[in-house]
Amino acid sequence: MHNPYNDDVTGMEEVGHKKYLSYSCNGCHGGGGGGGMCPPLTNDTFVYGADDDTLFRLIALGSDELQKDGYTRVRKEIVTGPMPPFGNIIKTSDELWRVIAFIRAKNPSSMKDVSNPAQTPGGAAE
Ligand code: HEC
Repeated sequence: MHNPYNDDVTGMEEVGHKKYLSYSCNGCHGGGGGGGMCPPLTNDTFVYGADDDTLFRLIALGSDELQKDGYTRVRKEIVTGPMPPFGNIIKTSDELWRVIAFIRAKNPSSMKDVSNPAQTPGGAAE
């Protein structure tokens, strides 16, 4: 899976941020994604990898389901805990990609791993 907004993540920043706030991601990750009770989305550490496919799965399925699919924590964040699933809350995959574009806009260095999964359980990711 690949984000259709990768070519223009900064253009997507504002609309993605609105979605991010409307789904209350900020309650755990902070208003700008800088973390809070939960890991920051703005640092270089991505627990399961920073590629599109993995982030989409993590946000849609939540971390418990992701782990059932064979993913493990390959990096250590400053806080560890379960991430709830949003697949039934975020209405379309398009909206989820917009939220991911917001995270990329806040965290430009994550773009280098956009197609570079840290792990590929069952060959699920390309
Ligand atoms: C109830 C608190 C909570 C909410 C709400 C929440 N998250 Fe998370 N999120 C977490 C936790 C805890 C982790 C770490 C998961 C792990 O270590 O397995 C995480 C991990 C992540 C990661 C990976 C971060 C990293 O450093 O590896 C991303 C990306 C992410 N969340 C995005 C989102 C988005 C987008 C939303 C809103 C749709 C959201 N989260 C809502 C708690 C939350």
